This record gives sequence, C-alpha cells and structure tokens, in this order.
Amino acid sequence: MKSIDITGGNTLCGEVAIQGSKNAALPLLAASVLIKGVSVIHNCPRISDIFSMIKILESIGCKVRFTGHCLEIDAKDITSTALPEEYVKVMRSSIIFIGAMLARKKEVSIHYPGGCVIGERPIDMHLGALERLGVEFTEAEETIRANAGKLKGNEIFLPFPSVGATQNIVLAAVFAEGVTVIKGAAKEPEVTEVCRFLQKAGARIHGIGTETLEIEGVDSLKETEFTVVPDRIVAGTYLLAGAATRGAVLLENAPVHQMDSLLLMLRNMGAKLHVEQDCIFLNGEEADRAIPFMETKVYPGFPTDLQSPLMAVLARADGISIIRETIFENRFRVAKELNRMGARIFLKENQALIYGVERLSGMDVKAEELRGGAALVIAGLLAQGKTKIDGLSYIERGYEDIVRDLKCLGAKIEKS
Ligand code: UD1
Repeated sequence: MKSIDITGGNTLCGEVAIQGSKNAALPLLAASVLIKGVSVIHNCPRISDIFSMIKILESIGCKVRFTGHCLEIDAKDITSTALPEEYVKVMRSSIIFIGAMLARKKEVSIHYPGGCVIGERPIDMHLGALERLGVEFTEAEETIRANAGKLKGNEIFLPFPSVGATQNIVLAAVFAEGVTVIKGAAKEPEVTEVCRFLQKAGARIHGIGTETLEIEGVDSLKETEFTVVPDRIVAGTYLLAGAATRGAVLLENAPVHQMDSLLLMLRNMGAKLHVEQDCIFLNGEEADRAIPFMETKVYPGFPTDLQSPLMAVLARADGISIIRETIFENRFRVAKELNRMGARIFLKENQALIYGVERLSGMDVKAEELRGGAALVIAGLLAQGKTKIDGLSYIERGYEDIVRDLKCLGAKIEKS
C-alpha cells in the first residue's frame, strides 16, 4: 500500500491552485447518461473516484475521453443496464446512477454501493423517493434491481436533506411525466451544480439552491459543456493546514462563496484572512485559539467533510474544543490515530472533547478513510519529527495530488 512521508514542523508558506470539486463532478458523470450525445466536462479532477465512475460509464456503453482535466462522455448508445459490482462497491456515489439510468433506460441493476467507512450510510431515502416516482425495486443477493415502466412526477418530502438522494431524485425526474416537487431538498453546492448542468442541457428545474426543487419533465436533453467548480473541501483542507502550521497560504481558484462557515471558524481560531474574487490569503501566525463548541451542519453550515481536518488543527490549539458531529455517526475514527500522535481527544457519542496539547509527535499512522487521511496529513505537518501515513489510496479518492500541492506550500512531504 502506498504511503505519505512527512517531516513535520515546517511553517507552510506559498500559493496553490485548487482542483475541481470531486463531489460536484461525480454527479455530472452520472447526469451525462441522460444526454444522447456528448457531454464535455471541464476542470474535472483526476482522482480515483472519477476513474471508477468512468469505468462504470464505459461498462454500460459510453465512450469516454479524459484529456488533462477535460472529460468527454459520449452516451449515445447505452448498451447495458447492469452496473459492474467491482466499481460500484468502492464508491457510494455510484448510487446516483440509479436515478440517471432509470431516466434514460427505465431500468437498472446495481450492487449495494460502498464508500468511506464513516457510518451506516443507508439508502432508504433514495429508494423511498424513487418509489414515489413509480419505480419498483427488488433486491436479491446484495443487488438492487429497479424498474419503471413510466416515471411519473410526484411530491416528495425528504425527512433529512440528503445530498445524494436529492441528486438521485432530480436525475430520475428530468424525463418524468409532469412535475416533481422535492421538499426538504439538500442545498449543498454539489446539488446546485448538477441542477445547473441539467438546466444547461435543457432540463426544467426551478428553485435551484433552495429547499424546494421543482422539476418539470422534458422529452430530451441536448449536448452540453460545463465547468466543474473548485473543490471547497480541498480548499478548506489547505487553509486548515496553513492554520495548523501557523503559516501564510494563498489559495488561487478557490470557491470563496461556498466557504463562509470555514472562514468564520478560521477567524475565530485567530487566523487573519483576506478574500478577493477567487483567492483567499490566510495568515495563520495567531491561529492558536480553541473552539469552545462547534457542530457540523448541512450547507451552509460547517461541512462534515472538514470535521476531521479541523480536529487535527484543534488538537494543538490553546484550550479545550468541542466538536459535535451531526451528519455521519462514525466520523471520529481518526481520533484514535491522532491520540497515538500525542493528541488528547475524548469521544462520547457524537461529541469529541479536544484538550489542546503543546506538541504532536510524528509516527507511523494509518488512514482508514478519505477525510480522516487528510486530517492525518495535517497532523503530520504540525507534528515534530517524521510521520508515515499508510493508505494513500484513500486520500487519492478526493485529492488529485495532495503531496504536490503541499510541496507548493513548502511542506516536507513525499510519496513512498
Ligand atoms: C455527500 C458527500 C459527502 C458528504 C455528505 C454530506 C458525495 C459523493 N458525498 O454524501 O462527502 O459528507 O454528502 O454533506 O457527494 N442518509 C440516510 N438515508 C439515505 C441517505 C442518507 O439515512 O437514504 C443519511 C446518511 O447516513 C447521513 C446523512 O443522511 O447520516 C447525510 O447523507 P447524505 O447527505 O445523503 O450524504 P451523501 O450524499 O452520501
């Protein structure tokens, strides 16, 4: 298994450009299935989750070309409705192929999706909502088969604003007869982006960015070009790395308007920020304050995906911090590894009590999932001595090249 070696203690200083967003790009790949022709997706990150999605697209008959960061998907002929278990299992986002395939082919069979080990992650809301559009499901040996003679618009209420379920329903509803109304929809930018892509292709979607989405069925979509927004989680990770090392970091091509909750958090920690158009400059010299209480929330609240990286920074803050995780119940796995490095983090149910310590010590640690892995990288940067992080492949699911990017900021970091 590939790993990352870090010699800690360096103050990060420099500038880095932010890659395209993983979570915004993935549903666009599924959405391309709705277009009987070519979709061109610019600024697509070259990360393993995207490569897995490409494999799924190819297995159902799409022709795909990925040159640099430009992805071209020709979905003129869809030849199969069975999604390959091998790729579906590694990535939870494969679930949104259900909505896309139902829209295009009226049927799909898919193995239960995988993804990061950050909680139970059921798909009941996806399935329940799609049933309201007339889809019938049968399950056998961990495979779900979905059929829809005719998809019919309906009113759907989501008890929780699930990002994936909202995306799935929107995709399924694009060609449904009549109007579909989603109440309690997720407002995350990654939902907004797939709606904008579909809209550009000719879909009729109202209420984009609000908790009520209305999708008026259309007959077909046209070929479309679209540019993926920069990744707010990657941008946040690098700002937190800058704050952790009390450094000075300039992000270029950052999704500034999607990052309010993190920027506020960083200011509360004592960082100085200067924000301009699509650039963020952070001076982390005084970013040493603890955060007495914070909780993860749906957008525009503090993203659960940045909770572990934040925890790594707070591990060395001046004082006691409390983090409450409200989205995924199992997202404190990295605390155990941080404690091995000298952190003092105590977990109780969905809360972490973090006593800031003066120093972390470098050692061999193991990434078990994507964002926890990013947290260990931050811990390695601020620790004294050498840290080896096993499980680079988890980190590569979301970060195109975290080693390259952190080197730009002056980190002593290598792949091994
Ligand atoms: C997406 C993101 C993920 C992010 C999360 C929350 C992608 C590829 N992943 O994941 O990085 O952390 O949004 O912003 O975009 N739930 C159910 N039943 C369901 C669906 C969800 O109980 O049918 C629960 C989940 O277990 C979780 C919560 O709802 O506790 C939020 O999940 P959801 O918003 O669906 O997250 P994902 O779309 O999986």
